[in-house]
Amino acid sequence: MQSPLVSADRLIVAVDVDTLSAARTLVQSLASQVRWFKIGFELFTREGPAAAQLVKDAGANLFLDLKFHDIPNTVRGGVKSALAHGADLLTLHASGGAAMLRAARDAADEAGRSDAILVGVTVLTHLSESDFNTLFDSKRKLEDTVIALAKAARAGGMNGVVASARELPAIKRAIARDFIVVTPGIRLAGAGKDDQTRVVTPDQAIRDGADYIVVGRPITAAKDPAAACDEVLRCMDDALTA
Ligand code: C5P
Repeated sequence: MQSPLVSADRLIVAVDVDTLSAARTLVQSLASQVRWFKIGFELFTREGPAAAQLVKDAGANLFLDLKFHDIPNTVRGGVKSALAHGADLLTLHASGGAAMLRAARDAADEAGRSDAILVGVTVLTHLSESDFNTLFDSKRKLEDTVIALAKAARAGGMNGVVASARELPAIKRAIARDFIVVTPGIRLAGAGKDDQTRVVTPDQAIRDGADYIVVGRPITAAKDPAAACDEVLRCMDDALTA
């Protein structure tokens, strides 16, 4: 069953800026429109917990996108530390395998944060099918690998995965409708792709069943981020009400 969340609950704005003051300006200007902000390692590595705190101070949900990928014991500690900053959604590379993912889930449960959404990153959205084949010296279809990683994520106790919306319907078919899919690589119709490859529009992602969409530059690099954010929300609403 499709989640009943409205568009503002499903849009995650990626705060991909390198200073706390730029982050604060962006978060404050969009906080009345969206309920989720994503802090990635560019800002977190420079500014640390203050970056996470400004999202919490704005009353929004915090997606701390640190994409953990290490041995289980190290990931367990990393997840505990991330949750101490109030993270509501965390990413781990699904290719770390079931034991690593299970250690993350256990860490969340031990921290009393069973509510935290943990998602496995499948294949990054900037990689094309041919990049992928070259990288792994393989003719295997990218989508088959995404599905295998989604299954590993499920087995490791993840709530869902991060994947391109292009693989979204296949993931929902192979795993379950309620297995959360977070989709970056979103572009408004007719816009440039930047460094992304496997892009889709916000309305298409929602139509295909995306639970959350992650949007960075189409909003953050716009002349008027609030207006761009409105446009993304309008596209999502079109799909949700169709
Ligand atoms: O600017 P743009 O909308 O392309 O930003 C996408 C965001 O989603 C970035 O913060 C990037 O780190 C993140 N992301 C991604 N692909 C993944 C996982 C996360 O683009 N597979």
